[in-house]
Amino acid sequence: MNAPPLQPEAIAWLQERWGSAAPDVGVVLGSGIQLLDDDFHEEDRVCVSEIPSLPEPTVEGHGGYWIRYRFGEKKILVVGGRVHLYEGYAADEVTMGVRVLAGLGTSSLLLTNAAGGIREGFTPGMVVAISDHIQLQGVSAMMATLEHHVESDRLSIYDSAWLDRTRTRYQMSCTDSLQQGTYAALTGPTYETPTEIVMLRKFGADLVGMSTVLEALAARDAGMKVLGFSLVTNLAAGISGKKLNHQEVLDVGKNSQKRMLQIVRAAIESID
Ligand code: HPA
Repeated sequence: MNAPPLQPEAIAWLQERWGSAAPDVGVVLGSGIQLLDDDFHEEDRVCVSEIPSLPEPTVEGHGGYWIRYRFGEKKILVVGGRVHLYEGYAADEVTMGVRVLAGLGTSSLLLTNAAGGIREGFTPGMVVAISDHIQLQGVSAMMATLEHHVESDRLSIYDSAWLDRTRTRYQMSCTDSLQQGTYAALTGPTYETPTEIVMLRKFGADLVGMSTVLEALAARDAGMKVLGFSLVTNLAAGISGKKLNHQEVLDVGKNSQKRMLQIVRAAIESID
């Protein structure tokens, strides 16, 4: 089996435009989430369709721009235009943006997503740090590069030291405490059935969504440090008895920008 392509054309194209200094952190934003804050200074943006060989998103809410920001001394690259398995893309395509980030020399990655809340108390508008995940999408981000098994240090996907620093910093300025939980990734595009949510809860899942896990695995495989945050946009299927819809996910995303932004900020300030 061949290793996933490294996308040298995309890397060269971005370095031509932005120079060879590596971003300090890459940020992948979930449905409806944007970095709207005066302290993030936008330096440049490019449409995903301009970057050679990157797949283009087809879903509303996943804005298709890569945006360079400066935040204090830090160089941030926001990777818009996340693509998903449910759009018909393969694992290699879903993880291409992350591998391009790694190729640019980025050492830290922040992943955000919209998720359904499974654990009691995980209600719409809350932001939850991902402490671990359950991969139920039936594909691997790394199958092509690994012989038989992963080394044990790969087992901790989400960086607990970085998360501890982020939590401390976040709680210095905000009264709510930053909760953490296990994220289960399914392929979608249909939301789960109530019985699937009962099963996921028994498996130990606190959150459910359709993204993030392949990107986190690819980033760890490339040696990056990873943090993930879920914005709970709805109670998972069957919990409230209400029908789920994508517009609700986008609306909660927009209305909870501030909390997500504060956490993203705290995480960026806590990079060592
Ligand atoms: N299930 C799966 N993905 C999601 C959900 C959900 O309830 N909410 C937002 N993304």
